Amino acid sequence: MFRKEVYTSRRARLHEKMKTGLALFIGNTESPMNYPANQYHFRQDSDFLYYFGLDLPGFAGLMDFDTGKDWIFGNDVDIDDIIWMGPQPTVKELAAGCGVVDTAPFPKLETVIGDALSKKRKVHFLPPYRGENKMTLGAILRENPCKMKTLASVDLINAVVSMRSVKEQVEIEEIEKAVAIAYEMHTTAMKMCRPGVREQEIFGTIEGIALSRGGGPAFPIILSINGQTLHNHNHDNILKKGRMMVTDAGAESNMHYSSDITRTTPVGGKFNRRQKEIYEIVLKANTESIRAARPGISNRDLHLNACTIIASSLKELGLMKGDTAEAVEQGAHALFMPHGLGHMMGLDVHDMEGLGENYVGYSDSVKRSDQFGLAFLRFALPYKPGHVFTVEPGIYFIPELIRKWEAEGKFRDFINYIKLADWMEIGGVRIEDDVLITEKGQKVLGKAIPKTVADIEELCS
Ligand code: GLY
Ligand code: MN
Ligand code: MN
Repeated sequence: MFRKEVYTSRRARLHEKMKTGLALFIGNTESPMNYPANQYHFRQDSDFLYYFGLDLPGFAGLMDFDTGKDWIFGNDVDIDDIIWMGPQPTVKELAAGCGVVDTAPFPKLETVIGDALSKKRKVHFLPPYRGENKMTLGAILRENPCKMKTLASVDLINAVVSMRSVKEQVEIEEIEKAVAIAYEMHTTAMKMCRPGVREQEIFGTIEGIALSRGGGPAFPIILSINGQTLHNHNHDNILKKGRMMVTDAGAESNMHYSSDITRTTPVGGKFNRRQKEIYEIVLKANTESIRAARPGISNRDLHLNACTIIASSLKELGLMKGDTAEAVEQGAHALFMPHGLGHMMGLDVHDMEGLGENYVGYSDSVKRSDQFGLAFLRFALPYKPGHVFTVEPGIYFIPELIRKWEAEGKFRDFINYIKLADWMEIGGVRIEDDVLITEKGQKVLGKAIPKTVADIEELCS
């Protein structure tokens, strides 16, 4: 945990923003894998962690904005638990760690909330994403558990998003620790990227690095020579020369802050001519986007700028044609880059996605586009100092999408379908870094992970 003042000050700021009513934060419980006592790796809810810091299952936090009082609800262990788990701190001791004085056994929560509801007081809560928490909230609030997402408090969501979006110094330090773990994961993957090696071996090795240095992977590792599948979790292939391996992997620090890095490595460590041509375009989109990122410029502007770099460079290679500005405006480039340039990152790798992407990345005046490609941009607003973003352009040759668009005669004025057949071996290329917006510009977080052609070839040799 951070020092208790980090949590008391965060809660004080939320009290100031919300002013009235109560806010209920249900922490996560253990989640069974294949029978009740065989559980998945425990991951605490990020909002509960942010305001209360307790990294254990079975707790809830409550803030009363009218009285200024905060509570922790949870059960002390008994002797049966101690036999299996060893001695544990009391709930009172745990709560003191995050500056909360008032505690009560978990069942008392129902009485406290019931009392507030009978007085017609507003009980704010965030949208739950786990079945168990929907059931608990439904029972406590006497509402249909299936409606917990739609009944969640927009005022609370907006207040939490406004706070979690701007990272404190202690959070940035944690993200840098997570990137340091990613450095080891990626440089190890690059060195192992040789013909004859099974993807699974590399996947398991770098997942082990994430577990041995921090809280494990920040998301299921994406690692494949079929990088054209954006989130490829299959690791069965044997690496062979002529292909490139996309590794999209990050770790959690022990405090659960994320990193999210992608590197693309030619099998055997040397780029061939075509691989280099595509790789250099993606690298240019990555480095120029990072250079341009600063307060005031929006992630949507940066996304469109990266798409323009990709479209104009693919035109130079003869894969696209026509007027580049028009191609990007109409979305023709999305055949090659169908995803957004990046997303916020913090306690969640897609930070606060569970609260609703549109609350995080859009506003009353900035609405999400419905154009294929641009519609997947998770954040379109202007950057502010303290924002942490990924910058992750890519170029992909997705056979199914190319065949579909060609059969539909889509964007014939902008795409040279006939030439694409020669480039399918590329699969996909993505390069992703984690960037902090500062007062005047930006900073790439963590130790630089090799990404130029020369640096990757040198590391692999
Ligand atoms: N790691 C998934 C992503 O880059 O968004
Ligand atoms: Mn990623
Ligand atoms: Mn990402």
